[in-house]
Amino acid sequence: MVHKIELRNVTKHFGEVQSLRGVDFYVDPGEVVGLVGDNGAGKSTLIKIITGYHPPSSGEIYFDGQKVDQLTVPKARELGVETVYQERALSDQQTLWRNIFMGRELVTRLGFLDVRKMREETNRLMLESMGFTSTAVSPDSIVNTFSGGEKQGVAIVRALYFEAELIILDEPTMGLALSETRKLLRFVEQVKDAGKSVIFIDHNIFHVYEVADRIVVLDRGRVAGQFRSDELTLNELLEKMQRVAHTGSLD
Ligand SMILES: Nc1ncnc2c1ncn2[C@@H]1O[C@H](COP(=O)(O)OP(=O)(O)OP(=O)(O)O)[C@@H](O)[C@H]1O
Ligand SMILES: [Mg+2]
Repeated sequence: MVHKIELRNVTKHFGEVQSLRGVDFYVDPGEVVGLVGDNGAGKSTLIKIITGYHPPSSGEIYFDGQKVDQLTVPKARELGVETVYQERALSDQQTLWRNIFMGRELVTRLGFLDVRKMREETNRLMLESMGFTSTAVSPDSIVNTFSGGEKQGVAIVRALYFEAELIILDEPTMGLALSETRKLLRFVEQVKDAGKSVIFIDHNIFHVYEVADRIVVLDRGRVAGQFRSDELTLNELLEKMQRVAHTGSLD
């Protein structure tokens, strides 16, 4: 299978700090990859290279098997990469429909904002994809009344609507209540069912184990190991994580 994205031998240093050391990493279409590792392991740096925010110091980046030489943020977006951050995901004082279409508004043939269409589409997405059944929520609801999990759900649905191919969630469950976390994990399942790829970063190994098809362990800028979630039990995973912390290796 051609990987959705692949990094080959990627290194990143910030002055003296070596954040990534010869990292090989890939995500397949329709695959959820969990990225785990201690604070400072390099997870966010890896993500920022994939989103075009940081250029790698060395190494190669491939999208759909094609080498991309100068990945920028707009280029990554064009290639279908969307990142959902909990806090920056939405504009709080705006309505739901404005948030969905922000920056990519639908217009009529004459070039006017097609408000009716955007409200209709929002209503459809709410029912079909976001699972909003509450009668309190409408396309005209102001999103600051939404819970953290609902906001992230909106951000994910928006990414899907605009045909993201790879959705990156960096610490999405941080600060979420239990029921919100459940909702978020269901969104991840939906993204996968839609055939899209996900990179899921979370300090809570239970969440990662639950949603990920494959788990990649980073340790001090290196890939310490990886395995399919169905190859090992949660207890085995926890044991391996402890071993990595002590020895830097999974074996
Ligand atoms: N812009 C930067 N300038 C200098 N050093 C950086 C920069 N970004 C990251 N680093 C360093 O690179 C290393 C990896 O950081 P990174 O944020 O990728 O870790 P992480 O795995 O996401 O950690 P956490 O779990 O705490 O979010 C750290 O030592 C960090 O201090
Ligand atoms: Mg991080």
